[in-house]
Amino acid sequence: MRKIGVLTSGGDAPGMNAAVRAVTRAGISKGYEVIGIKRGFNGLINVEGKESRETMDAKIKELGVRDVSNIIHTGGTILYTARCLEFKEQHYISQAKIRCDELGLVGVVVIGGDGSFRGARDLSLEGVPCVGIPGTIDNDIYCTEYTIGYDTAMNTAMQMVDKLRDTAQSHDRCSVVEVMGRRAGWIALNVGLAVGAMAAITTEMPYDINEVADKIMKSKENGKQHFIIIVSEGVGDADGIAKKIEELTGIESRATILGHVQRGGSPTVRDRVNASKLGYNAVELLDEGKGNRVVAMKGGKVVDFDILEALSKKRKQFDKRLYDISRVISM
Ligand code: F6P
Repeated sequence: MRKIGVLTSGGDAPGMNAAVRAVTRAGISKGYEVIGIKRGFNGLINVEGKESRETMDAKIKELGVRDVSNIIHTGGTILYTARCLEFKEQHYISQAKIRCDELGLVGVVVIGGDGSFRGARDLSLEGVPCVGIPGTIDNDIYCTEYTIGYDTAMNTAMQMVDKLRDTAQSHDRCSVVEVMGRRAGWIALNVGLAVGAMAAITTEMPYDINEVADKIMKSKENGKQHFIIIVSEGVGDADGIAKKIEELTGIESRATILGHVQRGGSPTVRDRVNASKLGYNAVELLDEGKGNRVVAMKGGKVVDFDILEALSKKRKQFDKRLYDISRVISM
């Protein structure tokens, strides 16, 4: 029987399980045996000198229809995930190709961010067709408007900030909240708008702390008594920003770093549906004999690109209009 592999790699994201389920069931429906590869690319290699927790056989698991039951609503990934630094070395890429041949894999679906896509590209070049599915809460992959987990992470952050608002309001404070996004401010921008923050500070747009403080003071004169500032992880120093705001405005300020809570939890409708569509389309591509591709979303539709396009150094254009709207209506 023809076989395809599926793995999740890089930071986990809610909806990865929905994608694994879709890949598994789409694969089975097209007559494939589906092999789950555990802990990203680590599941295909054996790193010398590193004590291996598992035998090579334990690093994979055949996935049947029922093995992926009851996971569409769960966060995390049943296949576990990891960032595999060794996979940058040719030696390990060749080892992974040999392992794929041993397993009889005619293709592999790689669910992850751009680091994972680099691995997928290298394995494709080595002769194992791979199709990438964008899975990262950061939504920082060029060529797709959406990545699996992004919607859930934003909703989680929004709910957390709503809770922080209660206490900020009770104490007439300013709450400075750092949200995830090492290299991208998409979560900060959208959550900032969704919670009515005074400012969303991201690396994409310049900011002046004095302007932020002035805006807070103007709103205070207008009767506003509590304030929320969202800072993206890439900007860093939420604590320093809170201290500076307190110094400039005299308003007691507190910093909160939401951190990994944003990576967990049950995926939203949007993440479940999109993960299912992307998973199905990825298998369709492999079935058509196409590798070295990524599936992506454009205008709400699933499209696909050469993996090199997804890895291009071009940065996704920041939504300046949304940023401007958010600035104007927060007063
Ligand atoms: O998955 C993306 C991301 O959550 C970034 O927003 C964050 O900077 C990073 O992963 C944290 O990664 P780690 O798993 O290494 O803590």
